Amino acid sequence: MSYVLRCIACGAEYPPGEIRASCDCGGLLDVRHDLSSLPVSRELFDERLNRWDPENPIYRSGVWRFRELVLPVEESKIVSRPEGNTHLYRSERLSRWAGLEELYLKHEGENPTGSFKDRGMTVGVTQARLLGCRAVACASTGNTSASMAAYAALAGLSAIVFIPQGKIALGKLAQALAYGAKTLEVEGDFDAAMGLVRKLCEKLGIYLLNSLNPFRIEGQKTIVFELIQQLGWEAPDWIVLPAGNLGNTSAFGKALGELIDLGLIERLPRLAAVQARGANPFYRSFREGFRRRERVKAQTIATAIRIGDPVSYPRAVRALRLTRGLVVEVTDQEIMDAKAQVDAAGIGCEPASAAAVAGTRRLVQEGTIKQGERVVAILTGNLLKDPQATIAYHLGELPGIEPAYANRPLAIEPTLEAVKEVL
Ligand code: F0G
Repeated sequence: MSYVLRCIACGAEYPPGEIRASCDCGGLLDVRHDLSSLPVSRELFDERLNRWDPENPIYRSGVWRFRELVLPVEESKIVSRPEGNTHLYRSERLSRWAGLEELYLKHEGENPTGSFKDRGMTVGVTQARLLGCRAVACASTGNTSASMAAYAALAGLSAIVFIPQGKIALGKLAQALAYGAKTLEVEGDFDAAMGLVRKLCEKLGIYLLNSLNPFRIEGQKTIVFELIQQLGWEAPDWIVLPAGNLGNTSAFGKALGELIDLGLIERLPRLAAVQARGANPFYRSFREGFRRRERVKAQTIATAIRIGDPVSYPRAVRALRLTRGLVVEVTDQEIMDAKAQVDAAGIGCEPASAAAVAGTRRLVQEGTIKQGERVVAILTGNLLKDPQATIAYHLGELPGIEPAYANRPLAIEPTLEAVKEVL
């Protein structure tokens, strides 16, 4: 095996076959590949993308196409739907709305279970099987549980999910139940559920599949690999993404560091992590120059990122330092108006994803992002995940939110006159 697990706090190393969620010192673990020995190139990845080889179906996955940089594992052991190969949209309407010439949207809601979590889960569940684990668990604001439930079912593993009671979007709850996960509704918020699942996994030896798990991060790196490949291996100026538990922010930083080290890109894009104002611990720490780790009691309409104590905080700080990145906060009003714009452009996303577009617009207005810079915003989840928030916005029923772009349904009598009147 050409990698080890290394603690990002104390540098201790562990062999890949060990079952552990974190270092003995409590620090987070990284998968460290020996990059100098990897036979990878732009041409290799392009060739795999262009040749849908029946002999190598695994390369149809936008994760496993980059397998040397993800997890060196025998093909027969991989649990894949396959995931990735999501579109990179360019919308004139949204570029204009954000104040940019070139805004791209990488739609991770096009993954098999409707969010970017599938990229991490294919790797996490593959690793769980390699390690001989029979059960996997996670705490979730919804998408992680939907994805883990599906991949565990595919692999024949038992799945236990912990969700904050009444605080996850309907589509996600439906998925966890449908895919057969044991679903525990915790009376408390996501942070309480996270604390509980960590204790459970430690005590009962169940494999933890939150983004604390370093193999999840390896899979999620491929969002960046793929988007840069789609741009002809030319890095954009900015990558803007919503930030909750900070797994993705961490993964993006690691991906970019590796691409630079391998010479696959010439310059680093800057990362911009976007938080909801009511769930902004990372923003608060950023404002203080990361001198202190902040924690908050989280509240936002974007339930996916309603997180007050993000577990991947130290990795995410490292990602922002590497990329001269920044954190910005946006209000729920800005999130829902941005979502209405993404939806009306014919693309569509869930509320948390729209934070990326709202954050982009705000950074352009502030003059931090320049009009001519090339920006990729990450849409992390599918429109259908949260129908309740969408409908409530258009009906004007969200407390404290004035829907600037409402599209109300109209009730009519079943006559042509009635139709004519409203058209
Ligand atoms: N967008 C969506 C749609 C999400 O589901 C999440 C996280 C994020 C953004 C934030 O990503 O946590 O890596 O910073 N959802 C997790 C879950 C927490 O349980 O589904 P992050």
